[in-house]
Amino acid sequence: MSSKRDQIADQLEFLRDIGVDSLDIQVRGNSGDATRIPAVQVPAPVPEISTEVMKPSSNPDLQSIRDEIGDCQRCKLAPTRTNIVFGSGNPRAELLFVGEAPGADEDEQGLPFVGRAGQLLTKIIESIEIKREDVYICNVLKCRPPNNRPPEPDEVSACNPFLRKQLAMIKPKVVCCLGTFAAHTVLQSTVPISKLRGKFYDIDGIRIIATFHPSYLLRSPDKKREVWDDMKQIRAELQRLRT
Ligand code: URA
Repeated sequence: MSSKRDQIADQLEFLRDIGVDSLDIQVRGNSGDATRIPAVQVPAPVPEISTEVMKPSSNPDLQSIRDEIGDCQRCKLAPTRTNIVFGSGNPRAELLFVGEAPGADEDEQGLPFVGRAGQLLTKIIESIEIKREDVYICNVLKCRPPNNRPPEPDEVSACNPFLRKQLAMIKPKVVCCLGTFAAHTVLQSTVPISKLRGKFYDIDGIRIIATFHPSYLLRSPDKKREVWDDMKQIRAELQRLRT
């Protein structure tokens, strides 16, 4: 479990990465004026993800979907997977993230987004003052494709009904699709992610937005600014939907 200090350092690092170079900080006990201070340079500790908060939910309804998946043999990914990665987080989340498919770390641990991309996703979530344990995170595919190759249509057909059931059960207010594959599957579109991202779509009463995948951001950090714009839209939309 990382300390509060490490968490703040991580957050500052992400904000700096996405181009935020100063912060308005309200000094407690002051006359009330916000004091604008430059964002401090902080060392970049490797954040540990606490798997404690990410244990698969004990929510009985979600568990019924997990039970239905069982020891799934519905597609050709079954023989090569170590664990089925169902999803984790708050079963009553207002905000749900959908990724593509588990990678090696996720396959090993049975939890979504626990590798490097997951560490970045945690920072992205926290950038809008939401805790990772308060959202729900899952993938289109619940099993790892060998060597992280792209999911194939028969695998999506076998797995997509379970994502749909998770969405219907959790009923999030906002779904954020991470990357091309999740966006194309959820939005049933073939429009490039660079065009799809940054705006909301409505499906079955849920507000859907797409943004770049954290793995892509690791390769193209200059795209973090767009993700930051998308996250601000999500924050504003959640606020709007609460009022
Ligand atoms: N990438 C994904 O799309 N999902 C994960 O769970 C991890 C990496």
